[in-house]
Amino acid sequence: MFVYVVVGLWLLTVQAVLVTGNTNPEICSACVIVVGLVQQAELSVRFENILKSRCPDGRVAQPACFAGIDELVLALEAKAVPEDICLSAGLCTNPECKLFKTWPVKDLPDPLPDWPTTRHRHTLEEDQKTIYINRHGEKKWSLGCLNDQGQARAAYIATNVYNGENFLAPDAIFACQYDDPIDCERCKETVTPLSEKTGLPIVFDYGYRLVLGGNKGAAKAMKEKLKTADTIVVAWEHNNINPLTEAIGVDSSLLESWPDSDYDTIYTLKFDAESLELLSFTKSAEGFNGGDEKKVGESAMKSVTKTLFIDMLDALTWNAYSSPEDSGLPKIALPYLAVANLKALASGNLDDNECGRFNVTCRIDAFANYHEPLADRDGDVFSPEGKGVLRGTHWRGVDCDDKDETIHPGVSGKEEKASGEDVNCNGIAGGNETGSFESIFCDESDSRGVIILGDSATAHFHVPPDWLTAKSLDFDDVLPKVLDELDYPQCSWGTGHADLEECPYQHPVPGIDGVFSIYEGMRQRNRCNTNDYQNIGVNGARITASMNLAKSLQRDTVRDKPALVWLSLMGNDVCNGHVGFDHMTTPETYYDKAIETLKVLDTKLPPGSFVVTPGMFDGVLLYDTMHAQQHPLGTTYEALYDFMNCLEESPCWGWLNSDASVRRKTQEIANSLNEVSRKLEEEEFENFKFLFYEVPWKQMFAEYSKSGEPVTNLIEKVDGFHPSQAGNALFAQNFFGWLEREHEESLGGLNPYNEEIDSIFFN
Ligand SMILES: *[C@@H]1O[C@H](CO)[C@@H](O)[C@H](O)[C@H]1NC(C)=O
Ligand SMILES: *[C@@H]1O[C@H](CO)[C@@H](O)[C@H](O)[C@H]1NC(C)=O
Repeated sequence: MFVYVVVGLWLLTVQAVLVTGNTNPEICSACVIVVGLVQQAELSVRFENILKSRCPDGRVAQPACFAGIDELVLALEAKAVPEDICLSAGLCTNPECKLFKTWPVKDLPDPLPDWPTTRHRHTLEEDQKTIYINRHGEKKWSLGCLNDQGQARAAYIATNVYNGENFLAPDAIFACQYDDPIDCERCKETVTPLSEKTGLPIVFDYGYRLVLGGNKGAAKAMKEKLKTADTIVVAWEHNNINPLTEAIGVDSSLLESWPDSDYDTIYTLKFDAESLELLSFTKSAEGFNGGDEKKVGESAMKSVTKTLFIDMLDALTWNAYSSPEDSGLPKIALPYLAVANLKALASGNLDDNECGRFNVTCRIDAFANYHEPLADRDGDVFSPEGKGVLRGTHWRGVDCDDKDETIHPGVSGKEEKASGEDVNCNGIAGGNETGSFESIFCDESDSRGVIILGDSATAHFHVPPDWLTAKSLDFDDVLPKVLDELDYPQCSWGTGHADLEECPYQHPVPGIDGVFSIYEGMRQRNRCNTNDYQNIGVNGARITASMNLAKSLQRDTVRDKPALVWLSLMGNDVCNGHVGFDHMTTPETYYDKAIETLKVLDTKLPPGSFVVTPGMFDGVLLYDTMHAQQHPLGTTYEALYDFMNCLEESPCWGWLNSDASVRRKTQEIANSLNEVSRKLEEEEFENFKFLFYEVPWKQMFAEYSKSGEPVTNLIEKVDGFHPSQAGNALFAQNFFGWLEREHEESLGGLNPYNEEIDSIFFN
């Protein structure tokens, strides 16, 4: 169960970080959402072991820390309001922010039947075995038997510690035998009540003395026992606990000396159930010693809860993904980059230090700031086949020769056509006595590429709804999704080129079967355009950042084919989490930044290119479409939007706002920015013509509605903000249709050889 909570939290946090870039409110919102989800789904959650294991050692703060955690868990089970639970855990500071206007919500919607949820669940939780190591209880004198407190502790261990709730109940019990004439057998005394309660015999054949096998012999016996037992409780002599623990396999550097005064600490060792390999070592506490410093304990509880939430996020990002096939692969982007470059350095040309090739510093900069691919040996900004993520071929066409920077999508091929080599990776190669096929089939048809510069709507941001529905949660393929920044450019309105099965679920769109995009439209017109696409969509991008998008674009004014470029910033200039209108881009700034960016494009695009800017999205329409609908969590979109606004982490305060006057004013500002784009049509550029497309959003939605499908199909289920897969397909159909009707010259020619090309190259 714990796994579900962790994953949910982590995903939401990833989303929140991507959208807002800050760290506190999202812990709150993740907590509220997850608690709500868990309660709605009637899942029993056992947080307390994990939380309690983080309470500070020793006797001062621990009892209150435990008590606070008990209260939290009780509240969780009693279905208290999620906001209150998270508030008392110290994860939210603003009690005003409510996700659930009514609680409990009547029904948690099951995963809708049309959400694909066939993938199997990942189970981590129960595949482990455990050894707990404790000291014996308090004693009458240094070698004596347990005193009253020690006896009470022994009873407490049986009822409150290893009771199957706070800690796992044992399948086997070991006690250290002193086996000398003076020492009382305190370890055995300590676990006797537990043995009586569980009916398990105490294994009492081992001790630290060598005649009994020593700590090593005991360790060996315990590991042998683990083959048949899931959980072993051990009581041992404190100076020998560390040697025993080390003999079981814990690295000695993790072991601090055990204070004489400490009777309470528990060592927890976790093992893989199959291989019995040691997985982790943690310290926790029995929690027996009373103490009245409640406040200290409460603040400890809060910090425990908070660090746990943060640690879970870290743990998942680092540990959750290594699959056996990938075992040699690094886990995240930067290590990946370093390794990739080191390999290249080892096998490639050591003298070649220029930027874009084997220069690690430079490649990190290119990836992080300019959204260029990591897997790119020749530095031409295109990745080879099989490298889809990390700004690879999901984003830009396949590089058919990653060792030669002159070969990549978009090359016009004029110089090389005699050779018949496929210099632009469009799949057309070879030739006959008449000439190369590239020149026979492609010369007359005015072929061109598609390049989309834009935001998260360009990149097709999507959080799978099944990740939010506990019953169907699955995280087998989290890693590739995260490495694509939770974007699906391969399925997007601009550069979609994948099979529909690789894309988020698509509701029906009349006239579209599969993935349709501007790129697909271009390829249907002319097969010579195959593979010539670049998606430079960046989550959160607005006009002030568009210069970097333009710099990331790869085109050579002389060597390459013209391009149809979309500069598509549909919302972020009026959208962010801040309250108020001051954070929105002014028309003056918009104009200045747009001109700057267009000037850069003019230095990169070959003559005959086009740059199109679509109007901003209609936020009023968006709100009207979604606000009264039920979100997968059971609340309404309206409540979700207000909650995010309250925490100042909404993707769009201005549009996703229950105050109609705020929505209207935001839309006025968006319209004023559209006016600027319209004026830009008057500007002259050397290498391209600029077009503004006033998108008829309302009409597009109304027509879709006429087809009998609900317009809510067009918006993302989880965030209630981005266009869905169906929305992407509909946008592409509408945008491409407009170009065909009004600006067919921007699309290049229809290629009369398409069928012949298909029969020779694409069968
Ligand atoms: C690596 O690239 C950077 C530019 O990003 C450059 O300043 C540096 O000199 C390069 N390193 C080498 C060894 O050429
Ligand atoms: C070369 O191939 C083209 C396209 O299939 C064809 O039209 C042309 O006749 C061929 N030339 C020769 C000499 O076979």
